[in-house]
Amino acid sequence: MDVLLIGSGAREHAIAWKLRQSPRLGALYAAPGNAGIAQLAETLPLVVPKADAPQEQIDAYCGAVVAAARERRVELVAIGPEDPLSFGLADRLQIAGIRAFGPSQAAARIESSKAFAKEVMRRHGVPMGAAARFDDFEAARAYVESRAGDVVVKADGLAAGKGAIVTDSHEEAIDALRGLLVEGALGAAGRTVVIEDRLAGREVSAHAFSDGQHIVHMPFACDHKAVYDGDIGPNTGGMGAYSPASWLRDDVAATVRREVTERTVAALAAEGAPYRGVLFPGLMITAGGPRVLEFNCRFGDPETEVLLPRLESDLLEIMVACADGTLDGVDVRWTDEAAVTVMLASGGYPGAYETGKPIDGLGDVDGDALVFHAGTKVDAAGRIVTNGGRVLAVTATAPTVPQAREKAYRNVARIRFDGMHYRRDIGASDDAPPSPSPLVGEGVGE
Ligand code: GLY
Repeated sequence: MDVLLIGSGAREHAIAWKLRQSPRLGALYAAPGNAGIAQLAETLPLVVPKADAPQEQIDAYCGAVVAAARERRVELVAIGPEDPLSFGLADRLQIAGIRAFGPSQAAARIESSKAFAKEVMRRHGVPMGAAARFDDFEAARAYVESRAGDVVVKADGLAAGKGAIVTDSHEEAIDALRGLLVEGALGAAGRTVVIEDRLAGREVSAHAFSDGQHIVHMPFACDHKAVYDGDIGPNTGGMGAYSPASWLRDDVAATVRREVTERTVAALAAEGAPYRGVLFPGLMITAGGPRVLEFNCRFGDPETEVLLPRLESDLLEIMVACADGTLDGVDVRWTDEAAVTVMLASGGYPGAYETGKPIDGLGDVDGDALVFHAGTKVDAAGRIVTNGGRVLAVTATAPTVPQAREKAYRNVARIRFDGMHYRRDIGASDDAPPSPSPLVGEGVGE
């Protein structure tokens, strides 16, 4: 089966690496890909527009993807990032009779509109913190002033990881609201906001495959969003991840699966938007039990870089089954091994950074370590150079998280580029105490 993979990050490199292991895979194409993906797939120069790009640009892009898929007779288009899902690429492919892995535009609203996600959760009793939606600054300010504690201000639309502003005071929250609602700091994505109570606890990422009706849960993973060790500094797209989350108790994990993932898939089916693809709720495990922070309509990045190395089964078979509604017929197995991935970032990231820095040492990593490329390209001289804020995800597997950590960092030490920085504590917090028990009778969906 010939496959076209959409995207250009370390997540897509990990997907390409896993698809390559499938005995059913024929040709693999990637659009646009990166220097790492180019070693596994034929790349096509189709750059994914942002969700808020002009409609003509989006239409032209979707048309070009459909044409490329038809011309190459691919039987599956696997869509990695959220932007093409949110502007309906899966729908366009389906109309053209081409199988797509990834939710429809209507189902992808679970990520592309925070307000929609909150409404679905409220209607179906999915556990979340208190939240309210506003498009008027004065009303939003009054709401913040009425809250007892700190809040998180979230742009309703997609904002490339910049849409959630965690605030430490009501003044900070009001400044954030002014930026979004009055000054238009994030454009259309921030013209409506959701204000949530700031929750205390530990974050965890749940992922599941769904064919609209059946669900296969993946192991849990944790990412590290802040740029510096100890969770200090501004948030990034993710500086590293580990799996499993050994600290997460089995009963809490079961609650997440039942009350969040399964309930949401059933809710979307009942509301006429069956969910096909990867559903990824990001959660806070609080003293009162799990609470959804956000839903994502795709694999997490860097979570994918620790989940797919743990997948024993054939990813291509799973993707096809998600698209065809036959996931109940697939036996999906995971290894007991742990995985840790450390993201190597460009100097200055997540602020301004330079690109085009030659990367050394890629050939020096251990044979069983995995280096997934994020922002890389091959320059005119044939060298692999940096081409983004997050550059490489160095991944290792081992029987335990501490062993995988040690192996990942041993390999990180062999790679160099000008300005390279990374966190030294990825996975270190997995040894912390287990999550608290949910409190019986705690209200949800308030
Ligand atoms: N690691 C979080 C995300 O992919 O959204």
